[in-house]
Amino acid sequence: MIPFNHLGWIFKYIGPAIYPRKIRGSLCRFLIPLSRSASVLDLGAGTGIMSEFAYACRPDLQFTAVDPAEGMLKYSAEYIQTHTAYAELLPFDTFSFEAILIGEALHHFQDVDQSIQEMVRVLQNGGSVFIYDFDSSTFIGKILCRIERLFGEPGNFYPPEVLKKKLESHGFTVHISHFGYRYIIVAQLRSI
Ligand SMILES: C[S@@+](CC[C@H](N)C(=O)[O-])C[C@H]1O[C@@H](n2cnc3c(N)ncnc32)[C@H](O)[C@@H]1O
Repeated sequence: MIPFNHLGWIFKYIGPAIYPRKIRGSLCRFLIPLSRSASVLDLGAGTGIMSEFAYACRPDLQFTAVDPAEGMLKYSAEYIQTHTAYAELLPFDTFSFEAILIGEALHHFQDVDQSIQEMVRVLQNGGSVFIYDFDSSTFIGKILCRIERLFGEPGNFYPPEVLKKKLESHGFTVHISHFGYRYIIVAQLRSI
């Protein structure tokens, strides 16, 4: 397994410099429709980098970060509330969040379907999800997937169209943006 618990300082000090600008721009656009002071969950947050990017364009939002690695969470900014937990079993009540952010993390979740079920449970009606990850149908995506599996990671990478179908089956309306070997999915939970 990748020893994330010991890698917090690398993600904190090198991560922001190598994060793609297009992803940050799309994230800001995703946040525009959120209500004032909306609660946002950063899932597989690591050092909370997605929350930091989001804070730069929407400082009014309330950020909560979840990650199993305390050694990552301890580097997060003071305005982020942190919880040491897994995406598959979230320590929150139903309808707790208006939006969820997942950056380069979904492919690390052991059970993606269970994680999506938990996302649906904690999201408010009409809530939305921003997922940024690597496309396993591309050459670089395939290589990344193989390398991570060599490290004993689950390597749950998807071609975005496959993840789209999965999310739709859980009640989301899904839009994909392709950026070479990376993609962004914006998914909105259909109101009931
Ligand atoms: C590559 S890091 C990405 C961190 C951060 N989102 C970023 O963009 O820099 C992947 C993170 O997923 C976390 N992770 C692994 N398994 C997880 C799970 N089942 N639930 C939630 N997070 C998990 C790891 O601890 C790690 O911090």
